[in-house]
Amino acid sequence: MPMQRRYTLTQYLIEQRRRFPDASGDFNALLLDAALACKAIARSVAFGALDGGPGGAVAETATQVNVQGEQQKPLDVASNAYFTQMTEWGGHLAGMASEEMEQPYQIPAPHQRGKYLLVFDPLDGSSNIDVNVTVGSIFSVLRAPQEVIDAGRDVTEADFLQPGCQQLAAGYALYGPATMLMLSVGNGVAGFTLDPNLGQFMLTHPGVRVPEDTQEFAINASNARFWEPPVKRYVDECLAGRTGPRGKDFNMRWIASMVAEAHRILMRGGVFLYPRDTKDAAKPGRLRLLYEANPIAFLMEQAGGRASTGRAPMLGVQPESLHQRIGLVFGSKNEVERIERYHAEAPRHVDLAHPLFSERSLFREELAQ
Ligand code: AHG
Ligand code: MN
Ligand code: MN
Repeated sequence: MPMQRRYTLTQYLIEQRRRFPDASGDFNALLLDAALACKAIARSVAFGALDGGPGGAVAETATQVNVQGEQQKPLDVASNAYFTQMTEWGGHLAGMASEEMEQPYQIPAPHQRGKYLLVFDPLDGSSNIDVNVTVGSIFSVLRAPQEVIDAGRDVTEADFLQPGCQQLAAGYALYGPATMLMLSVGNGVAGFTLDPNLGQFMLTHPGVRVPEDTQEFAINASNARFWEPPVKRYVDECLAGRTGPRGKDFNMRWIASMVAEAHRILMRGGVFLYPRDTKDAAKPGRLRLLYEANPIAFLMEQAGGRASTGRAPMLGVQPESLHQRIGLVFGSKNEVERIERYHAEAPRHVDLAHPLFSERSLFREELAQ
């Protein structure tokens, strides 16, 4: 039987670059460095509770607390170091930002500085590490402001506050039964599977499309008492099944690894909600805009799906801070649009003195309409 011809990630990127004859190759080189970091993290994750992996000991269970006030596992820290070390040397980056670093990361001398910004969640779903459930890494590439490139100056928080529609590339690696990389360079979504023998990501899922309809939803139902009415309405209607207003039965999933949920949805459709809720007035949503919501939103839209705050398209949101949280709904287009419709139809009964509305221009603008 003839061997199946498969493209590597490198070959795919070279093919994509043909659309831009003047491209220098920096962009591709950066993505390959990010993919290398993901391969190293995949190896570390695979060692589980054993001491080992490319970075040595990661098995100890001691935790620290990160900028978000969340438990930081040794693998969160190690994964962050893989990303910074494997991408800082190439001369492609003006700076980086990560869930695990309070401030932007400056490219240290003697490395050259370049024109891109890399933003990442080095290990998403890390609460699942101890129970050997799928986790992943999420990343996003933005162009640095021109004056940063020209001056080669240190990056500031403001340089990263770009809406998601300005992303040049976004992707995630999934450390599951197989390691995969799902990537968009703005021309659809392609999926790669890590060949463990070759150590190469091979193109296995070209032209990924999210089905427009679904009968599967994902939400953490333990937050139900904090949901806003449109979310409660949506979930109630799903639960009512065939005899309810939707006239069909729904299935539910919750892995608590957003990358794993995003992957299921890219593969077979579905809808994911981590909506804005009333649980903690200081946190308008659980997930972070720049390195969780935006890259996943970019992938969804590039695959024909949709991503939203519930009220507005995610990719249009103007970020206000590096670690900003936001309500996130994504997946099959018709279902996300339905959820947006439910928000639009809900009575505008809001407490404007509530801290959620005092600072966040997105909601204020919308309320003003
Ligand atoms: P991280 O591990 O990077 O902090 O992200 C975890 C996120 C996301 O992956 C997941 O969907 C969500 O947290 C789970 O939240 P709950 O524990 O509230 O279900
Ligand atoms: Mn995360
Ligand atoms: Mn994380």
